[in-house]
Amino acid sequence: MSKSVFSVAIDGPSGAGKSTVAKAAAARCGFIYVDTGAIYRTVGLAVRRAGADPHSERAVAALLPRLSIRFDYGPDGTQRMHLDGEDVSEAIRTPEMSMYASAVSAHPAVRAYLLDMQRDMAWKNSVVMDGRDIGTVVLPDADLKIFLTASPEARARRRLAELAAKGDPSTYEEVLADMVKRDEQDSTRAAAPLKAAEDAVLVDTSDMTLDESIERVCALVRERTEAAL
Ligand code: DC
Repeated sequence: MSKSVFSVAIDGPSGAGKSTVAKAAAARCGFIYVDTGAIYRTVGLAVRRAGADPHSERAVAALLPRLSIRFDYGPDGTQRMHLDGEDVSEAIRTPEMSMYASAVSAHPAVRAYLLDMQRDMAWKNSVVMDGRDIGTVVLPDADLKIFLTASPEARARRRLAELAAKGDPSTYEEVLADMVKRDEQDSTRAAAPLKAAEDAVLVDTSDMTLDESIERVCALVRERTEAAL
């Protein structure tokens, strides 16, 4: 019997181009793109708004039952995040929210709280899902796992360009330092640390253009879907 849905898990550090590549690959394949970092960012924003300490698992866990977080897709196909009925898709994209998201994502209670929401999407739809633990924890049976990475310097340059385009005055040194700190936090935490699944295909985008990265991922998806569907 042929499968009706196909799942692609893309993990890797921030700034490797994951979200742009995953989004473009999903569009080309006709799959739904799920940005799981945005979900963690939304929890981070809720914690910030509640004035709670993002590093305290007890304080963060106490907020979770009261949160209403959901996501849907706008007319142009972009994922929109909603917190307590408010569209917070832009509010979660600040350097401060990056740090809040990184802090709250270290708590097992937060990861457990968000697990079903993520699995549910991949159960019902063909998805390209990006994050840190998609191939290792969320979708261990994903049809294709990719670990997308790049050197810290290449990632900091890209993130700086993104921030500058939004008028953010951060410097290269600040962005690189944030990136290194977040990598450290994300890969050394006890709960679902950032690491490549054993069966993941490694894609290093340091010396690739965006188009080359997208094409590489699409080629991998084509190979696997032809074999699986
Ligand atoms: O991909 P991003 O930069 O938007 O992610 C924000 C933070 O959320 C990042 O520091 C790590 C965390 N995260 C995670 O722990 N697990 C995921 N699946 C996605 C993101």
